[in-house]
Amino acid sequence: MYTPFKHEPFTDFSVKENKKAFEDALKKVKGELNKDYTLLVNGQHIKTDNKITSVNPAKKDEVVGTVSKADQEIAEQAMQAASDAFEDWRKWSAESRAGILFRAAAKIRRRKHEFSAYLAYEVGKPWKEADADTAEAIDFLEYYARQMIELDKGKHVESREGEMNRYIYQPSGVAVVIPPWNLAFAIMAGTTVAPLVTGSTVVMKPASNSPVIAAKFVEVLEESGLPKGVLNFVPGSGGEVGDYLVDHPKTSLISFTGSRDVGTRIIEKAAKVQPGQNHLKQVIAEMGGKDTVVVDKSADIDTAVDAIVVSAFGFSGQKCSSGSRAVVHEDVYDEVLDRVAKETKELSVGNATEDNVYMGPVVDQAAFDKIMGYMEVGKEEGRLVVGGNGDDSKGYFIEPTVFADLDPKSRMQQEEIFGPVVCFTKVKDFDEAIEVANNTEYGLTGAVISEDRQNLERAARDFHVGNLYFNRNCTGAIVGYQPFGGFKMSGTDSKAGGPDYLQLHMQAKTISEML
Ligand code: SER
Repeated sequence: MYTPFKHEPFTDFSVKENKKAFEDALKKVKGELNKDYTLLVNGQHIKTDNKITSVNPAKKDEVVGTVSKADQEIAEQAMQAASDAFEDWRKWSAESRAGILFRAAAKIRRRKHEFSAYLAYEVGKPWKEADADTAEAIDFLEYYARQMIELDKGKHVESREGEMNRYIYQPSGVAVVIPPWNLAFAIMAGTTVAPLVTGSTVVMKPASNSPVIAAKFVEVLEESGLPKGVLNFVPGSGGEVGDYLVDHPKTSLISFTGSRDVGTRIIEKAAKVQPGQNHLKQVIAEMGGKDTVVVDKSADIDTAVDAIVVSAFGFSGQKCSSGSRAVVHEDVYDEVLDRVAKETKELSVGNATEDNVYMGPVVDQAAFDKIMGYMEVGKEEGRLVVGGNGDDSKGYFIEPTVFADLDPKSRMQQEEIFGPVVCFTKVKDFDEAIEVANNTEYGLTGAVISEDRQNLERAARDFHVGNLYFNRNCTGAIVGYQPFGGFKMSGTDSKAGGPDYLQLHMQAKTISEML
């Protein structure tokens, strides 16, 4: 009934037709900017007076769209709608629910560049990054649809003589989904459809920096046949709407992706049993990273330089997987640092939406101010080698920046900056490299560049991260190939795009019958 899962290919923009197709999509989307988007509650499109205004971070005066904003009253209606709709939705067959995901994937694939163009405008993504984000969204739909059909068969358990045992998975209930703005399409879509396909209903509160792409995705799911109340879309503030949804006694599952501070707060709030609540809340939290590229003395230098630059500066370092630390063996430290500095100086920065430069802006004023604040910390704690400047007159532009000679315990090497900044630390041997790589509170991604098999095997055992890469960069996990999620304060290690992900949204049930 369906073909085996295949990762959605990335677009090669050096091919003339592809470049032209993307430019056409940008033109189309530019003509659609500044539209007003509604909330969705129980199948009703609602307009409110209060709006979230989404702007292009590369051009502060360009409004991408306005989106109606929910308050607690609307959040309550959304919870009730999701709770009522669950009674019917949970009875749909896995194939029928998966069918909605397959149809949505097909629709997005046909208009792929249009969605990527929205990402380019809304969060300032360079084309390549936007294209990868859309491809990943399609992958999540295709992958989870297939996985649910398999999971619906349950798992084998043994039976004794005279007894028949079954082991099946059932949906959780009402899921509150709070996605991030950085993988604004992929993670938003993946975390929304995972509970949906398992038979839960969803109240989704998009990130305030990227509500338009979320509204476009909700449209696609509606067009694909999702019944009313099954997905409710309630943009709003974290303090007002987010907290209300997390605390709600009918919430059974919370899927959050974002900062460590918000994530740990959600886990704490979800643990408190509210009046009228008769179940424990499940929480999936994907949080920050302080990810390290380790360079061994045996490393191929070209590979090391490429891995550091790509890990640090792809999407301006605004991925939880970004490699913001380079931990380099003293024998090759100067050479790697010089070559990274040289390559960094050559990176183009600007309005990545329209000019397709290597690096676009950071997402908003708060991000700009925070990252620029770290530039000062970096100058005090280490040596500025390249970059360090920012310009927020038209958009939020920051130069790709390299700091050298950082103490592994310095703030620059411990705190998540979430911007285009990489900090170098020199180590005397591989033992020290792994020790430094592990010395943060995070454990999301990491890379090791080495030609020494013993050292690679040691890293496989001792480098404590959820996604470890050898002889390549540490970003860009692909659905189905590199299940993604981290240890320690990086989250609940839920491994998005992996074989165990959907189970985390479900409850396993054992049925035992005497024959
Ligand atoms: N999955 C993304 C990556 O690997 C980050 O969210 O880069």
